[in-house]
Amino acid sequence: MEDLLRARLSELTLEEKVRVLTGADFWALHEVPGLRRLVTSDGPAGVRGERWDERDASANVPSPTALAATWDEARIERLGGLLAAECRRKGVDVLLAPTVNLHRSPYGGRHFECFSEDPLLTARIGIAYVNGLQRAGVGATVKHFVANDSETERFTLDARVDERTLRELYMAPFEAIIKQARPWAVMAAYNQVNGHTMTESPLLRDVLKDEWEWDGVVMSDWFAGRSLDAAAAALDLVMPGPSGPWGDALVAAVRDGRVSEAVVDDKVLRILRLASRVGALGDAAAAPPTFDVPAELRATAAASFVLARNHGTLLPLNGPTLTRVAVIGPNAAVARTLGGGSATVFPAYTVSPLDGIRAALPHAEVTHAPGVRTHERLPTADLDVEVTYAGADAEPERRHTGDFHWNQLPQGTTAVEIRAKLQAETAGEHIVGASGVGRFTMTVNGTQVFDETLALSGNDPAEAHMFPPQAGAPVTLAQGETAELVLRHEVNAHAGSSFDSPAVVFKLNVDYPHGTPEEELERAVALAREADVAMVVVGTTEEVESEGFDRTSLALPGAQDELMRRVNDANPRTIAVVNAGAPVLLPWADRVPAILLTWFPGQEAGNAIADVLLGAVEPGGRLPTTWPASEEGLPGTRPSGGVLEYSEGTAIGYRRPGQPLFPFGHGHGYTLWEYLGIERTDGGVRVRVVNAGTRRGREVIQVYTDKPELRLAGFAGVEADPGEQVEVEIALSERAFARWDGGWVTEPGEYVLSAGRSVADLRVST
Ligand code: BGC
Repeated sequence: MEDLLRARLSELTLEEKVRVLTGADFWALHEVPGLRRLVTSDGPAGVRGERWDERDASANVPSPTALAATWDEARIERLGGLLAAECRRKGVDVLLAPTVNLHRSPYGGRHFECFSEDPLLTARIGIAYVNGLQRAGVGATVKHFVANDSETERFTLDARVDERTLRELYMAPFEAIIKQARPWAVMAAYNQVNGHTMTESPLLRDVLKDEWEWDGVVMSDWFAGRSLDAAAAALDLVMPGPSGPWGDALVAAVRDGRVSEAVVDDKVLRILRLASRVGALGDAAAAPPTFDVPAELRATAAASFVLARNHGTLLPLNGPTLTRVAVIGPNAAVARTLGGGSATVFPAYTVSPLDGIRAALPHAEVTHAPGVRTHERLPTADLDVEVTYAGADAEPERRHTGDFHWNQLPQGTTAVEIRAKLQAETAGEHIVGASGVGRFTMTVNGTQVFDETLALSGNDPAEAHMFPPQAGAPVTLAQGETAELVLRHEVNAHAGSSFDSPAVVFKLNVDYPHGTPEEELERAVALAREADVAMVVVGTTEEVESEGFDRTSLALPGAQDELMRRVNDANPRTIAVVNAGAPVLLPWADRVPAILLTWFPGQEAGNAIADVLLGAVEPGGRLPTTWPASEEGLPGTRPSGGVLEYSEGTAIGYRRPGQPLFPFGHGHGYTLWEYLGIERTDGGVRVRVVNAGTRRGREVIQVYTDKPELRLAGFAGVEADPGEQVEVEIALSERAFARWDGGWVTEPGEYVLSAGRSVADLRVST
């Protein structure tokens, strides 16, 4: 194969070779003789494809924190196959996933998009994910190399990380995945590490390519390739295109000897190698497996849910005995299935917790009230709309969305108009609005209600996507009354985004009438009081967890803590269902009998929640990250003078002193486990457990070492029937005990290995 790649390379001119090294457009690479167009796509929670809207629906899988919470590599490898099938269906060759940055701090805006705070768990789930994709012929892009663990000033911040911390924590998942799963691509991050912009960092050549002997493609994060120096530093591909810092400048640099042609050839060879791996050089790609997608997504979500607390015997619920169930909370009727930013996909449908419980309990009366409002910005509309392109020779489109994104508008478009009918379900004040950049006018029944020119406030090119400025105006409607909305956006080049691209992005917003905070709370509490059981679905919003910004607080937004306390006081049979991709503070945790953590569960959310609460399925998850009891002493994400000091060193998550709310590895099932023994074997340890409960279950046996510091050293999932004993051999690699001290060293001496149910619940030791 390498001979064929070299032969192809030798047929290309210097100009053609350099052309391949910058994207052709937002997602694809250039075609050159002998190489077809290669297509990339986001992202970790599904495959969006080249279009950023609801017209090209995607399977929305649970978010990465949920995937890691399964601690189940076989399941994640299968899911990788499902994502590969999605890629093939959408003509995608290379998926921009997995994200293997660590949960350094729960404030990190993309926390939900990363697997874990622990490098070993991150690596093992990452390896399974990459294997699942690549065995089905689709490339993985392990991202973002490296120390891209927060969002504030992400384009420029300099993460100052000591070498030991970098090696033992942040580079460790990349190293393990590169060595054990041989990913076909890696994405270089936006930020700097110790003074080097990552697309120009010596780590790319010295460590990634030379030390780890890796032959894949290093692509830039979007718009992170900023210089010619990056070419020498071993970046292979500048994304997106067509413009960028290389092109003619790189051709000239090769011609006058500043960059050697061998450097360019190596990059092109890597891209040709990628092309051959995805089957783009004429050789057929592996066929991806086929799936019952809804069933797989439902089972994976349930396997990720962490039953953090189950006091007494409330769960599982006995469905047939329930006659009235209150499903309360701001995230009950809204399916919040994924986090914001480039991980966003558009599923064909979503099942909200309320939908899921209603479907599972057809005989019961299921009531609902949100109890609190959690959004501060105007929510995106969810309406039938007609889209027309003024100035263009394009047909109007009928769609159902409030979220608009065009990579390229129809030729000649001078303005986009969105027409929608808004019918009032309840009488009162509605707010109609727009989010985006540029000029927006809105008319309601022919009368203009605003004409605003909105501008970006910061310098993050993603701002237009993630947190665009908004305009809005009130419209008062009687119950059942319909208003005709026309939102018009004037299009001028590049105004819709600060990305250097023709993309146009904006939203139509509608906010509905609501009661006073006290009225909203009281309505929910009254329903809880009358119900056999109250489920309160609390959680974050897209204003809290997204790419592009960090969180400023770990508290649940709005008056959700108050709602939780009041519902729990009104009904002792209250279950908290927490819908958040990252830890949130639960100050009422020791008073509520049952707490189920459900992450961002993907499109089958509500069905999986019903399966677990009603006991059809065991909650399979264990925490992949520590849930702190308070915000005290957590690593911060705000750079000072452009520098973010990782001054905590390796003391993140469970390596940090103090008592968390829920420790790393924690989670109950619906059966009980006893640990019978642990002994050393040649390659690790052997652990014996017994299912001491009354139903079949799965246990995640975790092995920790006490030196060089308390660390997860290995794990294995086992299943057993009631009364059944199982013995499992858990391999431990030498690296689990090694320290970085200019090289890997393992101190001789006595190590205590313990096995148990979480880092804070170790049952047997040797
Ligand atoms: C993100 C990447 C993503 C890329 C393309 C960037 O802003 O950091 O994770 O793959 O955009 O959407």
